[in-house]
Formats: sequence, structure tokens, C-alpha cells
Amino acid sequence: MHKNFIAGEWVEGVTAGLNINPSDTQDVIGEYSRADAAQTEQAIESAYQAQKTWAQWTAEQRSDALDRIGTEVLARRNELGELLAREEGKTLAEGIGEVVRAGRVFKFFSGEVLRLAGEKLPSIRPGVDVEVTREPEGVVGIITPWNFPIAIPAWKIAPALAFGNAVVFKPADLVPGSAWALSEIIARAGQLPAGTFNLVMGPGSKVGQTLAHSRKVRAITFTGSVSTGRSIGMTCMERGAKVQLEMGGKNPLLVLNDADLELAVSVAINGSFFSTGQRCTGSSRLIVEDGIHDQFVAAMAQRMAALRVDHALKAGTDIGPVASQDQLDQDRHYIELGCQEGGVLYAGGELLRRDTPGFYLAPALITQTHNAMRINREEVFGPVASVVRVRDYEEAVHLANDTDFGLSSGICTTSLKHATDFKRRSTAGMVMVNVPTAGVDYHAPFGGRKGSSYGPREQGSHAREFYTSVKTAYTLA
Ligand code: UN1
Repeated sequence: MHKNFIAGEWVEGVTAGLNINPSDTQDVIGEYSRADAAQTEQAIESAYQAQKTWAQWTAEQRSDALDRIGTEVLARRNELGELLAREEGKTLAEGIGEVVRAGRVFKFFSGEVLRLAGEKLPSIRPGVDVEVTREPEGVVGIITPWNFPIAIPAWKIAPALAFGNAVVFKPADLVPGSAWALSEIIARAGQLPAGTFNLVMGPGSKVGQTLAHSRKVRAITFTGSVSTGRSIGMTCMERGAKVQLEMGGKNPLLVLNDADLELAVSVAINGSFFSTGQRCTGSSRLIVEDGIHDQFVAAMAQRMAALRVDHALKAGTDIGPVASQDQLDQDRHYIELGCQEGGVLYAGGELLRRDTPGFYLAPALITQTHNAMRINREEVFGPVASVVRVRDYEEAVHLANDTDFGLSSGICTTSLKHATDFKRRSTAGMVMVNVPTAGVDYHAPFGGRKGSSYGPREQGSHAREFYTSVKTAYTLA
């Protein structure tokens, strides 16, 4: 039994759940505790008590703690990457890559601890000093999704701890294994004061709700669906807590007539289908200029036919299974819907049988869609991309921005003029030129606009905005 970590102790939950391999539903990875509201309250209380001690550790001590965690994560990249691929369904290479990213995030924030600077301003009053400093928020509640089961926890937990906060961490119920392994490393290698870091696995309706409502949780950071994010946001707003939300995307990738076709296909295949398309940064709307459209979709279909969809741990697999039956149902529902709305299933989209029972879906390309269709308005979160044909660049930019979301956007072009113009006019938080809309650097700010995100950016130096509170002090001496 994988237990929760509360107040420095490993404790059993009130119930437990099984973690199942989506590449082989007969393979049970393990049993994981599930907490209720009362246990979550205990974790919050222990974090509340421990935070004061933790914040008093010197910057160097906190930096070292994060460094130890990062070192162990990186050293165990193969083993942890295999666990990740086994429980979530991304390929082994993708799993190891994600573990490395998580380790590097801890290393980055280990350095950030020592770089937390303040400001001194000239006052408008004689003899007065004005100082601006940053302090921890207090207890931070961290709620993470199943699609990046170690990287997203890392990029929320590392900055929270770096800046002197205590943490109550609730990973996704579906995929708790990598989160548990990371927590075990933090619990042991971190050598933090008991209660500074708490792992509380369990359902959102109990653990997540308790975190959102607790007066002692000063800030909540959440990555997941729009509906859950908005409801957590409203709860936090009502009680005056800080909130950071990373939600969906409907990210456009523009392919212009002057694009390098080969490169554009690679960028689209990666952005739309790698990690089984289960990324909020995925390229789900391919907006393609008329002159290259037919060549582009034909080349896409050819490349898609060569992609190997199979067991995530099998050598040579390009795309692993969908993460769960529910997600598979949702993907298929949207493929059907796209066709009912007038789109054409140009390639893929069928269920696949492999040696082991799993949620295998051939990546789907739906052509002849227009931007008002639901397939182009709502997030699918699977290996499903739709193509919208446009007459020129102006129409492409217009459609790219015509969405309720605004996380990431991309353009494939060899024109400096169009690349520069698109970077200026895109209404997304991240713009990619000739690189996939998904797959970002761990030291650069991450986040979106409109319905995709709320609150300050995650990652890089910008992360301090969410995890610290600014204090302005005036002194007459
Ligand atoms: C990436 O594309 O590298 O949940 C990261 C998600 C995002 C992370 C994407 N928050 O898919």
C-alpha cells in the first residue's frame, strides 16, 4: 500500500484505489491510499505549523534541500521514467524525458532560492527608505493533472518550497504513482521539517474541495480542466485566497504556403500526437493556407501511417495508449462529432488491437472543418487534430485568435515578416515559430491568456510572483 505523507509520517487513507497500466489493463501498478476531508485538514494543519520553521531555514539550506531532491530524481531517471510510462501511457523516452525535466526544475529552483532579491526605492519624503521584499505566502495547496504526473508536480512543488512555503500536494487520482515516488524522494532526501511537505492522494471532491475551502491554505495552484479550475477559482476568490489556474487549450498551428513542408509535418505530428495528444499545449487546430493544404494533409497522412501506436514500454513505440477508458470515450466522441459537423476523417481515428488489452487509438486527422465547429472550439485532449483551410495569412491569424482559449500558438513559415507579425498579433501566452506548440523549456515562463490560464505565470523566475507575497516597508531613520 502506497500511503499518504502527513505531518512527517506515512499514513494510510480511509480508502484506496488501484493504479492500472493503460497499455495493459491487466497490469496493476499498485494500490494507493485515498484520504478524506479530515485527513486533508490534518495535512493542512501540519503544514501551517511547519511553515514558520521552514521559512527560517537559511537560503542556502533550502537551496541544498531542493538540490538533493533534484539529484535523486535525475539519478533515477530510467526507473522513474519507466514507472511514468507504465502508469500514464506516454512512451518510455517521453517518460524519461519528463523525469529529467522534473529533476532539472528542482535544480533550477535550488538556484532561484539564492537569487530572491528585493528592491530599494527613493522615497518622495526626506529621510525615508522604501524597501520592497518578498515573503512566503504560507501554506500552498497544489492540485495536479494526470498527463504530466511528475513534471507538473515538480514545477509547482519546487518553487513553493524554494520561497519558504509549506505544501499540501494532491496529485491526480488516476495516475498517482509518479507523484508518490516524487513525494517519497522529497520526504526522505529533502530532510525538511516534519509537516513542510504533505502528500494527500484522494478524490477532488474530498481532498481538492477541502484545500480550496480551508482558511489556512493561502494559495492554490491548479492544472486541469476548465470547469474544475473555474470552480476552485471562485471558491478561492470568495475567501480571498490567491489562485493560479492552468486549464485547457485549443492551440492553433498555422502552416503557410512558404513553410518548409517536411519541417511543418514534423512540427504538427509532434505537437498534435506526441504524448498521445494529451497536452494542454497540443496543436489541435491546424490552420493551413490553400496553396500548401493538399500537399500538407497528404504528407501528414503518410507520416501518421508510419507512427507505431503500441505498448508504452515497447521499443519502437512512437505513441502510447490513451490514459483511460473515459478519455478514450471522449476522444472517439469528438471524432464522431467532427464528422457529424461536416468534417472528414482523413486519416486514423480507429481503435487498435495490440498484444495487451489497452486504450489504443490511431491518431486522427479530420479535414474540411471550419473554425465554428465544436471540434475546433472545445478541447479534446487526445491524438485528434482538425484541419481548417484558409485562403491567406490574414484569415489564418484571424482564426487562430478566434477562440476562447489562449495558451499556445504556432506558425510554420520561412517568412520573417509573417513570423514577426504572428508573434505580435497572436493572443496566446506562448508563440512558437517552426517549433511545436507543446514541449516547453523548464526555465521560461509558462502560461496562457483568456480561458486557458488565470493568475501569474508558472516556471522560471516568473514563478516567484505566485509563490511569494510582496511587502513594502517605509523607514524613517
Ligand atoms: C508542455 O507542453 O511541455 O497540462 C507542457 C499540460 C500543460 C503542460 C504542457 N500544463 O499539458
